[in-house]
Amino acid sequence: MTQVIKQIREWKEVRNSLQKKSIGFVPTMGALHEGHLSLIRKSVSDNDITVVSIFVNPTQFNDKNDFENYPVTFESDLAKLESEKVEYLFYPEYKEIYSDDFRYEINEKEFSKKLCGAHRPGHFTGVLTIVMKLLNIIKPTKAYFGEKDYQQYLLIKGMAEAFFLDCEIIPLPLIREKDGLAMSSRNKLLTEKERKLAPRFYHWLKSDNSIDTIKDKLEEEGFKIDYIEEIDERRFGAVHLGKVRLIDNVEI
Ligand code: PAJ
Repeated sequence: MTQVIKQIREWKEVRNSLQKKSIGFVPTMGALHEGHLSLIRKSVSDNDITVVSIFVNPTQFNDKNDFENYPVTFESDLAKLESEKVEYLFYPEYKEIYSDDFRYEINEKEFSKKLCGAHRPGHFTGVLTIVMKLLNIIKPTKAYFGEKDYQQYLLIKGMAEAFFLDCEIIPLPLIREKDGLAMSSRNKLLTEKERKLAPRFYHWLKSDNSIDTIKDKLEEEGFKIDYIEEIDERRFGAVHLGKVRLIDNVEI
């Protein structure tokens, strides 16, 4: 059985009783798919206890519509956690987590302004703030992050080092659909037509073409480009397809 914990106070009591056990932690915003489950399975196999959190964090959404339309599938999420034998689901409310109402924040001044940060003002401040709060509450031995959000992973790893957090930050590979589309909770929001087109983003991103050609091809096919950029042997991209924003990255 997966125990659902909503109160920090309640988790603290459980946490105290787990003193010597290794604790793996997988933070999520729910609408769980195989990408999330790959992190969860690794945590379950590497640790005595696994905690997953589900919290749709409002402070990391720069677009109000995106926040309001974010998919919520609590019952099926919980069923997945049960079948993966996850011991605890941390499922807090806003007031519990933001007792300060977001007066305090964690801000990174360089890399968080690039790529997604350049197009989503405040996004990574929201992400780093919530992850810092969650790590301080859960106190895990290891925390798992997907390379789907590669920039997010690098920023969280940097934060853990900068603030001497006593937690190992572990990256895991990006999981794709059979047709190549990077799995994402937001894929649920694509229309049937958009869903058919969406794998073309990965197709062009991983191709041998120049960045300019990739941008042209994607635009011709109906994508709106936020950015396609290369940093340290990795090509990053973000595009809009209808109302949905997709991100992806590949090694080059
Ligand atoms: P969310 O988008 O729910 O993702 C939770 C974790 O699952 C992240 O580490 C993300 O990189 C990973 N993930 C998502 N799709 C994946 C895929 N296709 N393959 C591999 N891993 C994948 O990322 C967030 O939530 C939030 O920003 C959060 C860190 C929870 C802070 O609010």
